[in-house]
Amino acid sequence: MNTHETPRNVSIKSALEDARARYVERNPESHARHRRATEVMPGGNTRTVLFHSPFPLAIKGGRGCHVEDADGHDYVDYLGEYTAGLFGHSNPDIRAAIIGALDRGINLSGHNTVEPEFAEAVCARVPSLELVRFTNSGTEANLMAVATACIHTGRRKVLAFRGGYHGGLLSFGETPVATNVPHEFLMATYNDAAGTAALLEEHGDAIAAIIVEPMMGASGCIPADGEFLKLLREEADRRGIVLIFDEVMTSRLSPGGLQEVHGILPDLTTLGKYMGGGMSFGAFGGGRELMSIYDPRRADSIGHAGTFNNNIMTMSAGLVAMTKLYTPDVARKLNALGDDLRERLNAVCRKHGAALVFTGIGSMMTAHFAATPPRNAGEAQQADQSLKELFYFEMLERGVFMARRAMVALSLEIAPKDCDMLVDAVADFVSLRKPLLSGRVH
Ligand SMILES: Cc1ncc(COP(=O)(O)O)c(C=O)c1O
Repeated sequence: MNTHETPRNVSIKSALEDARARYVERNPESHARHRRATEVMPGGNTRTVLFHSPFPLAIKGGRGCHVEDADGHDYVDYLGEYTAGLFGHSNPDIRAAIIGALDRGINLSGHNTVEPEFAEAVCARVPSLELVRFTNSGTEANLMAVATACIHTGRRKVLAFRGGYHGGLLSFGETPVATNVPHEFLMATYNDAAGTAALLEEHGDAIAAIIVEPMMGASGCIPADGEFLKLLREEADRRGIVLIFDEVMTSRLSPGGLQEVHGILPDLTTLGKYMGGGMSFGAFGGGRELMSIYDPRRADSIGHAGTFNNNIMTMSAGLVAMTKLYTPDVARKLNALGDDLRERLNAVCRKHGAALVFTGIGSMMTAHFAATPPRNAGEAQQADQSLKELFYFEMLERGVFMARRAMVALSLEIAPKDCDMLVDAVADFVSLRKPLLSGRVH
């Protein structure tokens, strides 16, 4: 968009101030809508991740892999609803499934005919699942998985990782966040095998669950080492701990999620996001023995409630999503496209000597303004956050819609030409902003 190079004497601070001012000027309608929303919602927001200063864009609609904001700007949507929007905005099969469900009655007050078929499709795909239960969100799925582990083991402690995100009530910075459910959490560092093993040695017989994302999503698409996951599996076995893989995001990264890629099966898996075809969705499941505590035919069964657990729109959209649309072959192709895109983006950064690196697997990636890829959340936080903000605003100016935290999650609507556009936009940014980005090349 701009072919002028950044002069050497421009600071990050002044570049960012200018970018923010241009953003305010370009988006008066979004600004006005946000001001109005602050009258009735704290900060004009009902989903924290979407807020950024000075105000977030108001998105009016979407089509294919494009979104349009209230001021009429069109963007290519590289964010894909933080992985839930895998099918884009206008998939005809998803649409037909939802309309068909509406035609057959919206709230059926009973077991419906779609839910067991959808459950079959989910269990067929995720290697560790024999039995599955549906929830309304990934958060709920993780809460249920942790509760299941506590009930099963009779223990109270839960080992989680710094920067792990398992939903609004199970979220971790350096420590558990204030809104978390009150389990007794122990915090370990992601990919730190020795430190984690030491904690397990100290507390092992009091720990009910280890909960881990096989690739950290919210903390910046940081893949786990295979050896690290293997250690968790072995330690969990040795100490009678329930190992939970949160594959809410990562199940899309291969036909059977990252557990299939690593060949490491957890005791419980949680799912969410795209798997409900873009409708609100969550699920938790595992082996027959563990999950059978929810079998209501058993005298000692545990209840698991939820009015919308089997809601007909999610069940119908999810069934078509997992049987017709996101087939194993389609999953492999989309992730190959993502791997190729990430490599091209990193090649551009290397060529310009920019301290910018894209981490991730397949169709999910995050940009970090650092010379080397972070291996845990603490390292990701050490990357330059002002440059990330500048990147966000300047990518918007180039028609690129991604997360404010610089995350990309490709949808099936993203074509090779859209990947080219992103590579060109990043190349333009790094060449223009070269003086601000120079550092050791990864
Ligand atoms: C890894 C992971 N687990 C759980 C969740 C929570 O899912 P939901 O937002 O559907 O509650 C998220 C959401 O971003 C996630 O990324």
